[in-house]
Amino acid sequence: MTKTAVITGGTGGMGMATARILGTDHRIVLADLNQERIDAAIVELSASGIDASGTVCDITDRASVEKLMVFAEAGDHHVRAVVHTAGVSPQMGSAQFVAHINAIGTVNVTEAFLARAAEGDALVNVASVAGHGLPKVLVPSGAFPKAASDPVAFEKIIVRRSRVFGKKLHSGLAYSFSKAFVIWYSRKQAAAFGARGARIVSVSPGSFDTAMGKLEADHGAADLLTFSAIKRFGKPEEVAAVLAFSASEAPGYLTGTDILVDGGTRAGQEFKKS
Ligand SMILES: NC(=O)c1ccc[n+]([C@@H]2O[C@H](COP(=O)([O-])OP(=O)(O)OC[C@H]3O[C@@H](n4cnc5c(N)ncnc54)[C@H](O)[C@@H]3O)[C@@H](O)[C@H]2O)c1
Repeated sequence: MTKTAVITGGTGGMGMATARILGTDHRIVLADLNQERIDAAIVELSASGIDASGTVCDITDRASVEKLMVFAEAGDHHVRAVVHTAGVSPQMGSAQFVAHINAIGTVNVTEAFLARAAEGDALVNVASVAGHGLPKVLVPSGAFPKAASDPVAFEKIIVRRSRVFGKKLHSGLAYSFSKAFVIWYSRKQAAAFGARGARIVSVSPGSFDTAMGKLEADHGAADLLTFSAIKRFGKPEEVAAVLAFSASEAPGYLTGTDILVDGGTRAGQEFKKS
């Protein structure tokens, strides 16, 4: 049977790079916000011999995510992997906007896939280095369980806590908290996926050369190179290799954890004084 992989944020930098790799042995279903961009991505992938299709999906809308899954399953296909790259960065909107898309979107995608996950399946959620190394007292982790049960209350707490360092860092902190949530939530869901013989991991990129990475370059992303071991932005295909491998059947014992792909940034921050 043909294997199917769904890629959210599929027309984005990391989404397309992942589609090029997973597409060598999976049928690819792209999900993103804009039909024209989806059509252009399908043309590009098809030209390389990849079986690609796609549909508009807003990950913040649970019904839209469910429609995506039904679209991907049409013709009696089974979705064996989801690579969830869809997300937004601090420069793209308010703290609430960022928390809503990154956190609630991840809950929607995870729950929709969990409901049909089977032996050998895998979900890879994209988090961020920004979700690592935050002072524990700062992170409103007590609110994290509410993301699934009471998303409005969850967002309110995230937005309120993000104000702690003033207006300038509001969206930035909400981004960090939303990605700390993705890491926490992916670990928390490991047992539920395991009960179905499936896996879930998060992958945390550092600064990567995509549309989003370029947008954030002058707002802190480029400063991280001071600490990184590799003094350049990562290439989309370098994180896509990890996303595709994590989603493949090969790492059958990899679940409930986060993989940091940050060019040694966190290591550099940790050892900067020694
Ligand atoms: N680029 C970086 O430096 C970097 C660093 C750390 C983490 N990340 C994370 O990596 C992931 C992929 O980022 P990228 O660099 O490929 O960015 P990108 O902007 O190229 O791609 C993101 C895609 O997500 C889509 N998207 C946004 N909101 C959506 C929604 N509501 N529903 C469906 N799709 C939606 C966008 O249309 C876009 O195509 C994101 O989650 C991002 O937070 C990126």
